[in-house]
Amino acid sequence: MSELKSILVTGGMGFIGSNFIRYLLKLNQNFKIINVDKLTYAGNPENLKDIDGKFTNRYKFYNNNICDFDSIDKIIKKENIDSIINFAAESHVDRSIDNPTTFCYTNIMGTQSLLNAAKRNKINKYIQISTDEVYGSLNFEDPPFTEQTPLAPNSPYSASKASADLLVNAYYKTFGLPTNITRCSNNYGPYQFPEKLIPLMINNALSNKKLPVYGKGINVRDWICVTDHCAAILKVLLNGRIGKTYNIGGNSEIANIDLVKKLLKQLDKPESLITFVKDRPGHDLRYAINNDKITRELNWKPMISFNKGLELTIQWYIHNEEWLNRIINKDYLTYYEKQYKNR
Ligand code: NAD
Ligand code: TYD
Repeated sequence: MSELKSILVTGGMGFIGSNFIRYLLKLNQNFKIINVDKLTYAGNPENLKDIDGKFTNRYKFYNNNICDFDSIDKIIKKENIDSIINFAAESHVDRSIDNPTTFCYTNIMGTQSLLNAAKRNKINKYIQISTDEVYGSLNFEDPPFTEQTPLAPNSPYSASKASADLLVNAYYKTFGLPTNITRCSNNYGPYQFPEKLIPLMINNALSNKKLPVYGKGINVRDWICVTDHCAAILKVLLNGRIGKTYNIGGNSEIANIDLVKKLLKQLDKPESLITFVKDRPGHDLRYAINNDKITRELNWKPMISFNKGLELTIQWYIHNEEWLNRIINKDYLTYYEKQYKNR
């Protein structure tokens, strides 16, 4: 048997990282995964509990900070890392408005630390998991974002992610580091922390709590099932052209208010639970992704329809109430109270 390729996945205890690790371990026998995660409030070892003990020779976890260059450098050497996929980030826009500093620290300095470690160890591929939010906001009549759309981030979160993207491109251009950037639209699916729209609304509706819709609920997001995102990342890992950026989206644009009503209908809960609250400062009106490049070059397209994916996601949260209830702890309730009390 040929030797396993070691992939360093950062942020693998979070929502998308944990889904990616599960996806890759089950699908492809050729990879060994080294997961490095600082275990912030969003990093949850329970997200990978089901793979515990099942992939002992193909999976290993390190509790480390990506900003800590020496630790990352040691791990890369010890584990003979071939490629790095950087999911680790502070990822919630509202928290970035409350505290931009941690976003700059992890998302910018953390990326730079990983890029340095990748460069020093002559890594074969470095993939930066970025976001469509770096392109800023679209008007309703605008065409979707392409890879040529200029960067115009509006929130501290998206500004920190855009900064990281610029560093990745600089390491490609200046040092010849073999990089890719992926920019995906809003993900949904199992194991998403209930600070984000879909799991927050499911959780509130299940406990008959008010559903706080920002502003008038007219803001549009382009939703993608996390499994489709994972499949796209694997395509980029295997065949993405060096130095290139790939947009990834689900072709599923919907206004927040329509999405919340859809959720309530599927949960058989009344629309009277909806409450319109003060808008998010700098709230981007619309995101939408043009997928043409990744479809044409890497033969990827989203496979899970929004209706089907949403139905499966709702069922997952209903059947994983214990996972959810353990997250709805004192820290979460303090966050929720602070975030929503003056809205
Ligand atoms: P998440 O918040 O659920 O998970 C982030 C993970 O990173 C957590 O496990 C956390 O513990 C870890 N982490 C944070 N700081 C760290 C540090 N300094 N060192 C090591 N680990 C650290 O986020 P997510 O939704 O899974 O997003 C993953 C990536 O995908 C992020 O880079 C995000 O910007 C990007 N992205 C997310 C979406 C989305 O809709 N969620 C869409 C496009 C792109
Ligand atoms: P979110 O899941 O935070 O993702 P992002 O801001 O990165 O797109 O929010 C998705 C949309 O839902 C966004 O337009 C803000 C809105 N929203 C609400 O209306 N109420 C809420 O409680 C949250 C968390 C989000």
